[in-house]
Amino acid sequence: MKAVVFERFGEPREVLAVRDVPMPADPASGEVRVRMILSPLNPSDLMTVRGQYGRLPSLPATPGFEGVGVIEASGAGWISRFRGIAVGARVAVLNSGGGNWAQYVVLPERHVVPVPDDIPNEQVAAFFVNPATALVMTQYVLQVPSGSWFLQTGAGSALGRMIIRLAKYYGFRTINIVRRKALAPELKQLGADEVLSSADDKIPQRVAEITDGAMVPYAVDCIGGPGVVDVIDSLAPLGRLLVYGTLSGEPVPLDTRRLMVGQRIMEGFWLSEWVKQKGIFTMLGLFRQIKSLLSADILTSPVAGVFGLDQLSQALERVEQPARGGKILLKLDTPT
Ligand SMILES: NC(=O)c1ccc[n+]([C@@H]2O[C@H](COP(=O)([O-])OP(=O)(O)OC[C@H]3O[C@@H](n4cnc5c(N)ncnc54)[C@H](OP(=O)(O)O)[C@@H]3O)[C@@H](O)[C@H]2O)c1
Repeated sequence: MKAVVFERFGEPREVLAVRDVPMPADPASGEVRVRMILSPLNPSDLMTVRGQYGRLPSLPATPGFEGVGVIEASGAGWISRFRGIAVGARVAVLNSGGGNWAQYVVLPERHVVPVPDDIPNEQVAAFFVNPATALVMTQYVLQVPSGSWFLQTGAGSALGRMIIRLAKYYGFRTINIVRRKALAPELKQLGADEVLSSADDKIPQRVAEITDGAMVPYAVDCIGGPGVVDVIDSLAPLGRLLVYGTLSGEPVPLDTRRLMVGQRIMEGFWLSEWVKQKGIFTMLGLFRQIKSLLSADILTSPVAGVFGLDQLSQALERVEQPARGGKILLKLDTPT
């Protein structure tokens, strides 16, 4: 079979290549073998390849934390029997160890999620990483109440758009920071209450105007760098900021008195750590919630392009382009 492989950490375009690799062994009891269809190129995959992610694989390795595929063989353990997962089922493939940018993958049965027919492959491919993060941060961790103000950076990202739609659904109000003001009409159309530009707006000042001086009790940031100080300065007393990404790659130049005054709280969020603390029944409940919010077009991802394995270098070039406007997916079920 074919798989995308890297033998050293580095720039994805330099270190990733499509290789012939042995088929994985037959699934043991409690495992399934999945024939992969599509997998997204997420920021976490690219950070792993660069050797910058929180947990790194031993090399050589294949990237890919999520995707969609069809179960081809099963070691039918109790979880598959309990959830009615059989050979032939189309599933979301949540591969916490990476490895989904391959034509076949073997993994524990609890890491696959059967999905209803009405959700297209392109959406099942991005079933978990972003939808679960958007939902868990706002509804499980911060528990943003209806009517409350909520501030986010990177609001034009696939995940930021999910938060905007979740806000409409749960009734909280969003202030959205983007680096390109041109995104404002699109985000307003999705339901954004306010859109600010990190390039043109004085963020804490604008937040004060929008909230009549109250500032925001909840915020999330996926950019890092100096902009985080503006987010902290936009928090109300006792306000909470979850940091969940570092797209700028820059450190935060923070005078910690900004947190002390007002007893503001800045905390980290990492989905894979959160998941580790949860039992199977919480996870099954979360999967059910995601499926229904996907069917309702709330946790869907815009798709900017689908590339075959033979177009890997084009896919890697496209995913790095600013203003790409959606997810880039790798198509794994075509011969190369
Ligand atoms: N902690 C967790 O467990 C967890 C889980 C899932 C995702 N995440 C994080 O969530 C973030 C969003 O992921 P995604 O898949 O939704 O991303 P995405 O769809 O690839 O979008 C990235 C967005 O970030 C913007 N951007 C990129 N670099 C930027 C910079 N230096 N300054 C300002 N804006 C920048 C882009 O703006 P343009 O449109 O202008 O190009 C684009 O809108 C990532 O940081 C990812 O690592 C974290």
